[in-house]
Amino acid sequence: MSLASVSLAASEGAAQAFEVRPFAGRVGAEIIGLDLSKPVNSVDFARIHRAHLDHHVLVFRDQRITPEQQIAFSRRFGVLQIHVLKQFLLTGHPEILIVSNIIENGQSIGLGDAGKFWHSDLSYKELPSLGSMLHAQELPSEGGDTLFADQHKAWDSLPEALRKAVEGRSAAHSYTARYSETKFEGNWRPTLTAEQLAQVNEVIHPVVRKHPETGRKALFVSEGFTTRIVGLPEDESRPLLAELYAHSIREENIYRHQWQPHDLVFWDNRSLIHLAAGCPNHLRRKLFRTTIQGDAPF
Ligand code: OGA
Ligand code: MN
Repeated sequence: MSLASVSLAASEGAAQAFEVRPFAGRVGAEIIGLDLSKPVNSVDFARIHRAHLDHHVLVFRDQRITPEQQIAFSRRFGVLQIHVLKQFLLTGHPEILIVSNIIENGQSIGLGDAGKFWHSDLSYKELPSLGSMLHAQELPSEGGDTLFADQHKAWDSLPEALRKAVEGRSAAHSYTARYSETKFEGNWRPTLTAEQLAQVNEVIHPVVRKHPETGRKALFVSEGFTTRIVGLPEDESRPLLAELYAHSIREENIYRHQWQPHDLVFWDNRSLIHLAAGCPNHLRRKLFRTTIQGDAPF
């Protein structure tokens, strides 16, 4: 550490003694001993940033933080994105999307189906998300896991024939691709207003993207939002996408997160796709999500 960074760190508050513990043989790491309600100095921040790039999903245990603190920490990684479903934004804090199956007075308090198909957050936007943070507020006594699949590994292990078939190609992504499907009981999404629909036009992104910070390639298609491969007839595009989806979620690429009280999970949407495993409808589940804007995929 240089003298300049020591004095900078000192002026920003003390370093915290925390540990980064990679999950054995899996994508992801746990962060133990860091308190996000206290100032995170630039040296600690650099460690967290590095761990995020190396492990793609970080699980910060036992975070007793307010929505303001979650927003402030999220902002250190970039500009925050406001979700199109305005009715599910936290009152007074539109940077937070409520992810919840809870119904109060006949109304859903949050987005019940935040991810029942594999997806990368906001891949249907020109500027998809860099990463998202979910902070546990209320957890069910069973189920409710979130699964993460490493798309760098998926690309690196893709059979040669599939690589050749997709290299240099682009795919269309649409928020409403799966909108009307009810794959699971209780899976629903509210009808979009004309104004909301106008914000979610189809976009085109490369099938294989380069991570803007690490330069590593990753597969960037998912059953949640990808609708077709550009330039291929439908009867070729559909089976090709199906093969890519099957490959992208192979067991060895996946970390299954079982939520513990006060977990804050921060994943990289440029490196991973994720899935909500769901929980029985009568059990309450509520999390607060912040979403950080990323670059246009290339
Ligand atoms: C999300 C999401 C998964 C979950 O909030 O972006 O996909 O398990 N959530 O709630
Ligand atoms: Mn999601």
